[in-house]
Amino acid sequence: MNILILGGGGREHAIAWKLKQSKKVKKIFIAPGNAGTLTIGKNLPVDSTDFHEIKTVCIENLIDLVIVGSETPLVAGIVDYFHKDDFLRQINIIGPDKTGAQLEGSKAFAKTFMNTFDIPTAAHFTVNAENLAGGIEFLRQQTSPYVLKANGLAAGKGVLIIRDIEEAENELKLMLEGKFGQASNQVVIEQFLEGIELSFFVLTDGESYKILPSAKDYKRAGEGDTGLNTGGMGAVSPVIFADQQFIQKVEDRIVKPTMRGLKEMNIHYKGFIFIGLMNVKGEPYVIEYNVRLGDPEAECIIPRINTDFSDLMMATGNGTLSEIELEIDERYAVTIMLVSGGYPGEFKRGKKITGLNNTKDCVVFHAGTTTDIETEGIKTAGGRVIAVTAKDYRMDGARNKALANAEKILFEGRYFRRDIGLDLMNYIEKY
Ligand code: AMP
Ligand code: GLY
Repeated sequence: MNILILGGGGREHAIAWKLKQSKKVKKIFIAPGNAGTLTIGKNLPVDSTDFHEIKTVCIENLIDLVIVGSETPLVAGIVDYFHKDDFLRQINIIGPDKTGAQLEGSKAFAKTFMNTFDIPTAAHFTVNAENLAGGIEFLRQQTSPYVLKANGLAAGKGVLIIRDIEEAENELKLMLEGKFGQASNQVVIEQFLEGIELSFFVLTDGESYKILPSAKDYKRAGEGDTGLNTGGMGAVSPVIFADQQFIQKVEDRIVKPTMRGLKEMNIHYKGFIFIGLMNVKGEPYVIEYNVRLGDPEAECIIPRINTDFSDLMMATGNGTLSEIELEIDERYAVTIMLVSGGYPGEFKRGKKITGLNNTKDCVVFHAGTTTDIETEGIKTAGGRVIAVTAKDYRMDGARNKALANAEKILFEGRYFRRDIGLDLMNYIEKY
């Protein structure tokens, strides 16, 4: 079978790496890919929202399966495009249709969905320029800190958490005036939930579903969860506080009603559902839905999936997921993200990366990397550069291996957090 993966980050490298292990997979194409995916398959310089070009790629390369890495093409309607096309309709594509992608593409849509299907989430109020007064009133009823969310996609920057009420009111107005462009024409104001976050993953073929390993993402740039929000500085799986009892609550109160909601709304959904959860004193609440795998969570959870990934993906597309047995490696996985100095602010690209061959007992996934045509060496090409994942029966073992290997990979300005998973280690000791 031939597979096309859309995207070029660590998540897509992890997906390609896993698929490469399957004997059933013949060729893997990654668009646009990175220096890491180049060692697995063929990189194609195709924009993931250029559906016409993607169709050409599918025809030329006899593609059987398309895996969409990021939300952007899904929100733009790539699945609907495939379904409407006589040729593309025969190809399995992983991801929801355009309406389903609104679960991530519109915070207001996601909140209405959760309220309709009784899914626990923070109380909210959706505001636009017309009902600002109502929004301010709702805001004043909340206690500090105040949560303001741009309705649309804002490259992960559209959520503001503000302590001071006057500042919150002011920011609300700025958002409605276009602080995040179109994305903040509508703003969702939310009750602040106090708890500990985790990323929960479900794979569905529209009828049945599988619960994949959960992970904890470390979003802030600095150690001790300080500094700016990033796309993710590392991850740990499994999440120690997400025990069987907690997972059962998530399944009963969130996963099942979500599945019911998708069906009742006639949403075509064959793909990953990423549920951002807040554990509030043992009770799960949905913070957000994403319609794809997380990054760097994918680099952490995919190495724990033993089941043939091409079987899993094809069964998702064919609607036969219930026939597949999901086998999970019980070991802990810890992923550390090596980033360019300055990220998520300004940073330099084009720095030579060395030491990639000195690592052992870990997997190295590329994110923002490129191959230097002149020297054939590898250079940095983004903020998040390399993800190092190590596994062990003990979390400290996995952490130590990941850290030791992260130290060996060098580039000018390289930075990584050395405290990934440390909070959960303390948790293990405490409970
Ligand atoms: P989102 O883009 O919706 O994931 O929000 C970004 C981050 O803001 C989340 O990962 C949480 O850390 C935080 N956050 C969002 N909504 C809430 C909320 N209602 N209560 C507390 N924290 C929140
Ligand atoms: N790591 C969070 C995300 O992928 O959205």
